[in-house]
Amino acid sequence: MSLLQVTIAGVDFKNPVIAASGAYGFGREYNRLYPIGKLGGVSCKGTTLHTRSGNPAPRIAETPSGILNSVGLENPGVDHVLEFDLPWILKQGTVVISNVAGSTVEETCATVEKFSESKTDMIELNISCPNVKQGGAAFGVCADSAAAVTREVRRVCKKPLIVKLSPNVADIGEIAKAVEAEGADALSLINTLTGMRIDIKTRRPILRNNTGGLSGPAVFPVAVRMVSEVYRQVQIPIIGLGGVASWQDGVEMMLAGASAIQVGTAMFTDPFTPLKIIDGMEEYVREQGLSNISELTGAAKLWE
Ligand SMILES: Cc1cc2nc3c(=O)[nH]c(=O)nc-3n(C[C@H](O)[C@H](O)[C@H](O)COP(=O)(O)O)c2cc1C
Repeated sequence: MSLLQVTIAGVDFKNPVIAASGAYGFGREYNRLYPIGKLGGVSCKGTTLHTRSGNPAPRIAETPSGILNSVGLENPGVDHVLEFDLPWILKQGTVVISNVAGSTVEETCATVEKFSESKTDMIELNISCPNVKQGGAAFGVCADSAAAVTREVRRVCKKPLIVKLSPNVADIGEIAKAVEAEGADALSLINTLTGMRIDIKTRRPILRNNTGGLSGPAVFPVAVRMVSEVYRQVQIPIIGLGGVASWQDGVEMMLAGASAIQVGTAMFTDPFTPLKIIDGMEEYVREQGLSNISELTGAAKLWE
């Protein structure tokens, strides 16, 4: 086994560095810069049952050390992804994770069923999406609805199932345990933190949607805290993300309890970030005399 190889829910990754959903499309643009097969995995753009054009612009606002986005899950719909995007990315030699969202349990399950019949390697269920039947609150903000959507998805999902948790909750451990009990094979956390900016001249929110999701280095300490909390409460592996921008951040996230990491916003300023993280982590693992990087997972020694 190589120094960086990790196994999550029975799936082997050549290294623990995965592109985060929404920051990498389906990998084509990045593949012009380097072979995306160098990455451990790619979590593809969040996909829904039907085409979605997303929210009106402006839908990105800059913030110190991060961005707010209200893209609103713009995507071509599952049938298009299955026909045009998935066959291409499956040939690139990286683990392919199909990220799924939906506004109702029925819509979410229908999309998962379609991916389940495909050759995708894993499914990542994004439960931060507003649930129209419950008045727009996301499935992921309470343990009952997070459990309910996971239960239904588990019934139709034949692939290893990662459930991606929202940080916009009082007790993320409670949600993680509820989702684990319903059969999730792994967790990924965190999605974006809800935020808002206002233009002081126009007195209008900068985003046309008023609010958006904060990501980037600004959220990193929140993500590390949440990964550490969840690690102590579940048995299933955790993929840690939120503000990871360097190999040192990747190591920190693994020490907190992650078995692998995802990188999102950092690639908007430097698309080579994941490659730099892979190299830096490998050197660190050698220097530390470890036989495999997974020895870092949860190795932080918390104060009593
Ligand atoms: C522009 C943009 C689009 C995103 N789209 C998705 C998405 O479709 N599905 C999803 O699960 N997460 C999506 N995310 C959230 C990221 O995958 C990630 O959870 C979050 O940005 C925190 O990681 P980061 O700080 O490394 O970006 C998106 C984030 C950004 C910035």
